[in-house]
Amino acid sequence: MNAPLMIRGFQVYKGFLEARAQDQMVADLREVARVAPFFDPVTPSGKKMSVRMTSAGRLGWVTDRGGYRYQAHHPDGMAWPEIPKGILDVWEAVSGVSRGPDCCLVNFYGEEARMGMHQDKDEGSFDWPVVSISLGDAGLFRMGNVARGGKTESLWLESGDVVVMGGEARLAHHGVDRIRFGSSRLLPKGGRINLTMRVVAE
Ligand code: SIN
Ligand code: MN
Repeated sequence: MNAPLMIRGFQVYKGFLEARAQDQMVADLREVARVAPFFDPVTPSGKKMSVRMTSAGRLGWVTDRGGYRYQAHHPDGMAWPEIPKGILDVWEAVSGVSRGPDCCLVNFYGEEARMGMHQDKDEGSFDWPVVSISLGDAGLFRMGNVARGGKTESLWLESGDVVVMGGEARLAHHGVDRIRFGSSRLLPKGGRINLTMRVVAE
């Protein structure tokens, strides 16, 4: 494992997953999505998000008119599937903590999808890192500050890249400006998958 790039406290492991591990992860995620299908999340103000979403783990992250939250079941009522082993292995390798994650949020970005600048702050405790895995098409990841606004830095996250958001980066604003649709052949129909593993306090 090479030392990560450090950008504003974000630890970026370029090329962390080799091709075979990426293929296996996609196969595992197809099974996750078979049990807990991707849904179209809506913000509390009623705006449809451009990413499609599902989760694995004890808890999943959802948003709808009722707000942003973690809950133990998919919007259709079923329990979330377990987090696949290959995904947990990444957490173990890079998180630096001894407990496992409660949630693996799965975001799918189609050609026009993006994610506005935000903080991950629904977890109840920020003592644990968030670990992100990118698969498929490249996405332009923007890293900002804990306070809103100010200067930002951007980096293309490519398939197999892993980012750890811990310490000073744990509550930093971040987002995805655009994806480079068709830049990867991992997903036959194109698009980007981003996984984020999180610990959620009771
Ligand atoms: C997120 O912040 O939930 C997603 C980040 C990414 O897609 O790289
Ligand atoms: Mn986030």
